[in-house]
This record gives sequence, structure tokens and C-alpha cells, in this order.
Amino acid sequence: MFICILSLPLFHTFISLLTLFLGDVRVRSRAGFETERRGSHPYIDFRIFHSNSEIEVSVSARNVRRLLSFQRYLRSSRFFRGITVPNSSNILDDDYNGQAKCMLEKVGNWNFDIFLFDRLTNGNSLVSLTFHLFNLHGLIEHFQLDTMKLRRFLVMVQEDYHSQNPYHNAVHAADVTQAMHCYLKEPKLSKSLTPWDVLLSLVAAATHDLDHPGVNQPFLIKTNHYLATLYKNTSVLENHHWRSAVGLLRESGLFAHMSLENRQLMESQIGDLILATDISQQNEYLSMFRSHLDRGDLCLENANHRHFILQMALKCADICNPCRTWELSKQWSEKVTEEFFHQGDIEKKYHLGVSPLCDRQTETIANIQIGFMTYLVEPLFGEWARFSNTRLSQTMLGHLGLNKASWKGVQREQSGSGDDVDPAFEEMDSDILPQEPRLS
Ligand SMILES: *[C@@H]1O[C@H](CO)[C@@H](O)[C@H](O)[C@H]1NC(C)=O
Ligand SMILES: *[C@@H]1O[C@H](CO)[C@@H](O)[C@H](O)[C@H]1NC(C)=O
Ligand SMILES: [Zn+2]
Repeated sequence: MFICILSLPLFHTFISLLTLFLGDVRVRSRAGFETERRGSHPYIDFRIFHSNSEIEVSVSARNVRRLLSFQRYLRSSRFFRGITVPNSSNILDDDYNGQAKCMLEKVGNWNFDIFLFDRLTNGNSLVSLTFHLFNLHGLIEHFQLDTMKLRRFLVMVQEDYHSQNPYHNAVHAADVTQAMHCYLKEPKLSKSLTPWDVLLSLVAAATHDLDHPGVNQPFLIKTNHYLATLYKNTSVLENHHWRSAVGLLRESGLFAHMSLENRQLMESQIGDLILATDISQQNEYLSMFRSHLDRGDLCLENANHRHFILQMALKCADICNPCRTWELSKQWSEKVTEEFFHQGDIEKKYHLGVSPLCDRQTETIANIQIGFMTYLVEPLFGEWARFSNTRLSQTMLGHLGLNKASWKGVQREQSGSGDDVDPAFEEMDSDILPQEPRLS
């Protein structure tokens, strides 16, 4: 379904026409590496099937992305018209709008239903929620932000998520941003964070999976995807999310009024936050967190310590699904499994070798969730609760325990045996988790 339908020569003609109309808009960044053009690349692009014509194909793919961006602008401008017309004639829209506004009054509640919010905002949860949070935290006033540029930036961010991904889409980004907001409000953080910290946290949360292709890093590596080459097989997706975010920040001009020094600092600090979400690096972050907590030497007046805590907070926000209520948590579990299995289907179809957790013949949601909770979520949230021992942390651990018990119930019904933890996670623990140190 995501496979090239055009023949290659025809495709080139098409691309030449396209280039003629759109011109070459590549930008070379000051730091010497190219800012990534945003835009969706399909699950499988041409490279996989034509890896002998590497260079030609990579030029074409860039143009395809440009086309997709162009389409996105058209959609965006429609969206703008929609939200700037003061009085909508549609009573139903007004009603939904009213309900969405009402929900935003409780944006700091851990039970916030992002799926409902997304429906009420007609699929614009990421834009609406993030804009609201910028306002709520006083960032617009403090940083003298142009609200039109802010909205345009957020629309571009939202549109660069792939809505066809079951899990890694703009709703996940909105969910992570909402969770991040809950953590920023925790007493230890709220009393020490500066507006700058809050700004970085919200931008990083909203952009942390930008342009996610719906497949994981091992898939990109084994299909010789250009991103794997570009980032030398290390934090391939996270580097791409970060560079895509930087591309949009520059393009939107949202912070053009700040000094170059500050903008560069912002770009690199957002990178540190986004790169921390690479789950294969979790052991490194967690052991650092643990030793700080053992020594009791975290000092939030120290900017480096604050940024380390924000990295941990974003990591928590990113994998907090099992800490939500069962109703919300279960939906996320279904979505992420659907995305894994979809990758597995592609891997089977093209004889690429099915990745761990991706085989719908041998895996179940319950097994995957129990493994995920045991190896990744429980250790992280256990330490987080040591750092921030609040009602929210207890609530999250409470849901985590209940949800795990529910999945164990499902597992027992399905198998009748006491097969507790997915062997794929054992594999993942030893094969994938400890990796070479990340580039930074
Ligand atoms: C929109 O509706 C409100 C309340 O119904 C009204 O007060 C306002 O004047 C209207 N604005 C426009 C531009 O029609
Ligand atoms: C990335 O991994 C692939 C497959 O294992 C390997 O062929 C390639 O050399 C690796 N690239 C780098 C830069 O390590
Ligand atoms: Zn994520």
C-alpha cells in the first residue's frame, strides 16, 4: 500500500516538473549539517527496492517530501481559515469548541482524556493543547511571542506527524505534552524551573517524535534507510525528530527575535531532551538518576541538574501510557501493538526477518505490555517516585500496578499457563538496551 506505483522514469519526469515549480529550498545550517526537510516519508520508500541507484533515489525522495510539505501548507491554510473565522455558522462546531475549552480547564489532571479532546478539537489536539499551555505558563508574554507565528509553528508540527501511524502520531505527541505539563507542575520542579526550562520542555515534548515513520530503528538499519546512514545507526529516529524540530523552529521564525546565541542554545538543549527519549539508552539515564538519588546530591538551582531532571521527566512522559487509567492505557496498548504488528507484516512480506514484538502470530498485547511494564516502565517510575514522592507519583504507580494485573488476567485467560514475561524483552534487555554511548 505504500509502495511506488509510478515507474521510475515516469517518476523522474514528475519530479523534474515538481522541482521546476517549487525550486530548491534546501537550507544549510550554520553548524554545517543540513537541517532536515520535514515531511512524511512513507513506511517504505523507494530506496529499499532500488538501493543500487542510491543517489538518484535520495534526490527523488527529498522531492517527494517537498511535495508532501507543499500539500501540508494547503491543508494548513484551510485550517487557519477555519480557526480565524470568528463566528462559525456551525452550531455543532461551537458546541465541540465549548466542550474542548471546558476540558482545557482541567489540563493538569492526570485523567485528562486526550482521545476525547482530539475528537472535540477535530483532530487538532496537539495545536490546541500546546497553544493553551504556552499561554497558561505565561510563555507568550515572557518571550514576546507572536501568536500567529506560534500557531503556525504548532500547525506545522502537528502536520509533520503521520496521522496514518496507529501510535506515533500527533495524538501521542499531545499526550506526552500533557503529561509533561503535569510533571512541570510537581512542587520540586515548579518552584525551581525558569520560563526558559518550561519553554524547552513543552517544545521538546510536542516535537519529540516528529515525522516518525511508524517503524523502529532496527527496521531502518536493516533496510539501509538513509536516516540510519546519516545518523550512523545511533538514535536514528530521535536524531531525526530533533533535526526536524530544528527545521520547523527556524522556518517558523518563532524565535527570530532572540539572539543567535540563545537560539543555538535552545536547539541543542531541545536535542538533549529529545535524544533522552531513546529507549535503548534507558539504562544509562536510569543508573545516573539512581546514583544521584542515592547520593542525594540533586540540586535544582543548578541548571545542569534541572535539565537532567527534565530529560527524566520527558522520558517518563513518553512511556507513561501504563500509568494512566485502564480505559486510556488500554487504548494506547492496542495502538502501539497495531503499529508493531504492521511493521512485522511488512518484514514478513519482504523477507526482512520479523523484529522482536512485531509478530502477530506469536505475540499478544498482554505479553508485550507485561514485558514493557516490567523491564522499562516500573524501573523508571520507581525512581521518579523516589525523586518526586507526590500524590501524582503514587497515582501513576497505582494505575501501573492495576493495569499490569489486568493484563496478567488477560494473559491467564488466553494461555492458561503462567508465562509471565515476554522472552522478546529478555532479548531486548541484553541485545538492544546496552548500546554504544550516544553521540551528543
Ligand atoms: C460573534 O458572536 C458573538 C456572540 O454571538 C457576537 O457578540 C459577535 O459580535 C459576533 N462577531 C462577529 C464578527 O459576527
Ligand atoms: C549500520 O548497521 C549496518 C547493518 O548492521 C552495517 O552494515 C553498517 O555498516 C552500520 N553503519 C555504521 C555507520 O555503523
Ligand atoms: Zn514518543
